[in-house]
Amino acid sequence: MNEYKERVIYQIYPASFKDSNNDGWGDLRGIISKLDYLKSLGIGIIWLSPVYASPMDDMGYDISDYKAINPRFGTMEDFDCLLKEAKDRDILIVMDLVINHTSTEHAWFKEAIKDIPNNKYRDYYIIKEGNGKKLPNNWDSQFTGTCWEKIEGLDNKYYMHLYCKTQADLNYHNEDVILEVEDIMRFWLDKGVYGFRCDVINNIYKTSYANDSVFKLYLKGEKFYTNQPGMFEILKRFRKEVLDNYNCFLVGETGAITPEIGREFLKTKALDMFFEFDHIYADKSSFIPVFSRDFDAKRLVEPIFKWQESVPWIGNYLENHDQSRSVSRYGNEKEYYKESAKMLALFLLTLKGTPFIYQGEEIGMTNVSDLKFEEVNDCAAISTVGTVQKLLHVKKEKAWEMVNKTICRDHARTPMQWSDKENAGFNDGATPWLRMNNNFDKINVEAQLNDEDSILNFYKRMIKFRNESDILKYGSFERQYCTSKICSFYRTYNGRRYLIVLNFSDDIETYWLKDKLSLVFATYKQDFHLNALPPRFAGIFEVL
Ligand code: GLC
Repeated sequence: MNEYKERVIYQIYPASFKDSNNDGWGDLRGIISKLDYLKSLGIGIIWLSPVYASPMDDMGYDISDYKAINPRFGTMEDFDCLLKEAKDRDILIVMDLVINHTSTEHAWFKEAIKDIPNNKYRDYYIIKEGNGKKLPNNWDSQFTGTCWEKIEGLDNKYYMHLYCKTQADLNYHNEDVILEVEDIMRFWLDKGVYGFRCDVINNIYKTSYANDSVFKLYLKGEKFYTNQPGMFEILKRFRKEVLDNYNCFLVGETGAITPEIGREFLKTKALDMFFEFDHIYADKSSFIPVFSRDFDAKRLVEPIFKWQESVPWIGNYLENHDQSRSVSRYGNEKEYYKESAKMLALFLLTLKGTPFIYQGEEIGMTNVSDLKFEEVNDCAAISTVGTVQKLLHVKKEKAWEMVNKTICRDHARTPMQWSDKENAGFNDGATPWLRMNNNFDKINVEAQLNDEDSILNFYKRMIKFRNESDILKYGSFERQYCTSKICSFYRTYNGRRYLIVLNFSDDIETYWLKDKLSLVFATYKQDFHLNALPPRFAGIFEVL
């Protein structure tokens, strides 16, 4: 069955979705209480960001027990109840599989660093000897700085962490590690989950530990661990040994891939789909992401079009827990807020591939306008501020300004805005783990449910339209225009053809339509001339 190709997926960031016991943290019972809301939105699959036991240094992407639920989120009974309640509503649950690394609080790691003979767990991790007084090699962490941390009490030994210091990389040259991961997958699949979003999956296999060129400013070492043949072999093995026995799918988080590699993932069934990262640089430098640049629609849409043309299937997204809010980045939040949010919704939901909506995107949640460094929780943002200060010789305020504008992930992580009540209805008043975005008096679910013209009701109509449209679900893709103002493309299926037109500009744009068209769905309700598209307009036309 192909549910993953036919349904819209909704990502939940559990800490920030709904806090049922008023302790400041969202939880599984909170999610259960909102399943009817999600059903009425029209989504068919939930991707749950990690809910496993974790010290939460990287908000659950640092797992200390893969088979236990973090008590902050509830219990295993709560999880089983979520699965059942979701199933009753025909909603499937996808888990986050974070297997590049574990938390340094994981029992395997605690064993690995014990100074005992024949330590089986030592080889679970990438633990290397320092090179004289130097680190084992010159690789960087993806969160900046070195990727090596000295192990206290072990002579001249370091462990690798490609992410935070407390996320130790697993060693995929060790058969036992692979068997452990297969066991974890079976554990959750046997419970009835519908698959996994595989965290940083194309970085799991390190082919060599050689030094990288010293001239690279950032991400030294990447060429030795990204997209390695060994990673493909492991994923193919997971497919054969585990996944083929279940109705499930895998979506990979795969930074730094090319269309060729993307096609290889699909052809070999290493993954069923993946996320590309090319379009996220529409408003910042891809070489040094802390350098912002003005948003240009062409830089957003061109890479998306390239991927649409290059692979038969893909996971489409504009937001997630690592990206700041799309309406703030790609829309005009001040003058054409609603129009922009609706346009982005129409864009996301008319592309070829599976659409992923991130919690709050459906009500047009925005970036936090007054986020202070002292309020930040995001470990990557915090470490990058330090690195920017050091490397660019700037003051902390300046470094924070740069990071805040470009890569700070907390903009997407503030609690979900359910109502205009205390803490936006996220809970009953306990201080949330991360500050609220203060605009919840204006932007919230309750207000939008009652407003026919709201962003939320537009999402509902748009998702329904997609769910019922074979052209949008199965149609081929063909680009028409991609400029800084107007972008357009065709979707074609069984002889029927839609033209999707997006106006990214704040002006009325003249658009000469060669085809004979009939408007079937749009972000504006009022009549307009087809050759004078209103600001931030998006529409679907049938080609007659
Ligand atoms: C992925 C996650 C991100 C996390 C990182 C390390 O990119 O999406 O939130 O910090 O992996 O696990």
